[in-house]
Amino acid sequence: MTPKRNLYDGREQTYIKHLFLTQYLKDAAFKTFQGRSPVFNFVDGFAGPWETSAEGALEDTSFSQSIKVLTSVKNDLQSKGISGLKIRFYFCEKDPNSFAKLSEYARQQSGVEIVLFSGRFEDNLDDISRAITPGFTFTFIDPTGFKVENAKIAEFLKTQRGEFLFNFMSEHINRYPDFEGVRAAYSALLANEGWRSRYDALPDTLKNEERILAILKEAFVDLKAAKYVADFGVMNPRKDRMQMRLVLGSNSEHAIELFRHTHRRVELREIETRQSIAAGDQVSLFSNEFLAESYQKSHGFGSPGQKELAENLVVRHLVEHGPTNFCDLWVHILVGAAVSKSIVKDTLNTLRKNGVVTFALPKSKTKVQPDTLITLVAPPLLS
Ligand SMILES: C[S@@+](CC[C@H](N)C(=O)[O-])C[C@H]1O[C@@H](n2cnc3c(N)ncnc32)[C@H](O)[C@@H]1O
Repeated sequence: MTPKRNLYDGREQTYIKHLFLTQYLKDAAFKTFQGRSPVFNFVDGFAGPWETSAEGALEDTSFSQSIKVLTSVKNDLQSKGISGLKIRFYFCEKDPNSFAKLSEYARQQSGVEIVLFSGRFEDNLDDISRAITPGFTFTFIDPTGFKVENAKIAEFLKTQRGEFLFNFMSEHINRYPDFEGVRAAYSALLANEGWRSRYDALPDTLKNEERILAILKEAFVDLKAAKYVADFGVMNPRKDRMQMRLVLGSNSEHAIELFRHTHRRVELREIETRQSIAAGDQVSLFSNEFLAESYQKSHGFGSPGQKELAENLVVRHLVEHGPTNFCDLWVHILVGAAVSKSIVKDTLNTLRKNGVVTFALPKSKTKVQPDTLITLVAPPLLS
């Protein structure tokens, strides 16, 4: 149930976006249905269709793929004897022509509960809230640029029991370094009229989009849309620059663990896609998978750079919060660095060996346990 690569020629970043969405949704739905809630609501606030391929019959859309992936999870679990599961879809689209296509598509689906909303997502939030069945709600927010009223959206997210995936359009943000013309749009995006002073306080070594992203993530937490907010960067494979960032917000630490698991898998596919475009017809001695894995090891998930970031985050956390049990620490590291829980354990061993932190391990254990208390000995210089 993965997106078909051939439907995305020339817009491979959308392929990566859909790959991430479907892989994350699949695992999240399995987990939700096996304990958390028998009801899974999927809200697509900016549903499209948008720039789809002529041959795809709308298969290359988030609404079509979410229906397929969630229905297959439900059918799979039902075949294993788990009954009473329910999925409901809530799709919203502003553009009348796109909405007509979305309506036609929805009419053709049988056995799927779909509720449609026409107009701006921000103006439909009350109606969507009223229509939503109590249960787990996953909200996908995928605007075309950065004109989004996040104060309203965050209020909606705060009242839902669930998670959201927000598509942050890095490329658009970087196109508008002159703030004057877009000041109001940024205030709406960041749900904060006073965002400029926060922006100026961030290091100017960061790119424009990185500073705006940092403020946006803080805003989602401050507005209580989510306790944890993490992001995965999607490169434009043809231009080798950041195109978008998929930002997950959740109150669950397990969601952040799943997010990084998805990150690791999808990043590999992203690198493979980039490398195969760059190689063109050239034949390499090594397989594309091997080259992608090597690149990821040195530059991506779990790379030395990400491990160093994890070390810095551990130290920062301990400076700010004092001695902390591992079970209360690891999620904060995964939020900020592309690493796994197991890498955080190794990181702690390295910091201990270097005399930066101290902790006691139970006999016969070589790595921290959930209740291991980690204490800072001497903070190194943070990079
Ligand atoms: C990037 S496209 C969505 C693509 C779709 N989510 C997918 O992955 O296949 C954004 C869509 O949002 C619609 N749109 C723009 N502003 C909107 C708003 N405020 N509320 C709802 N839809 C909006 C656009 O017409 C466009 O169809």
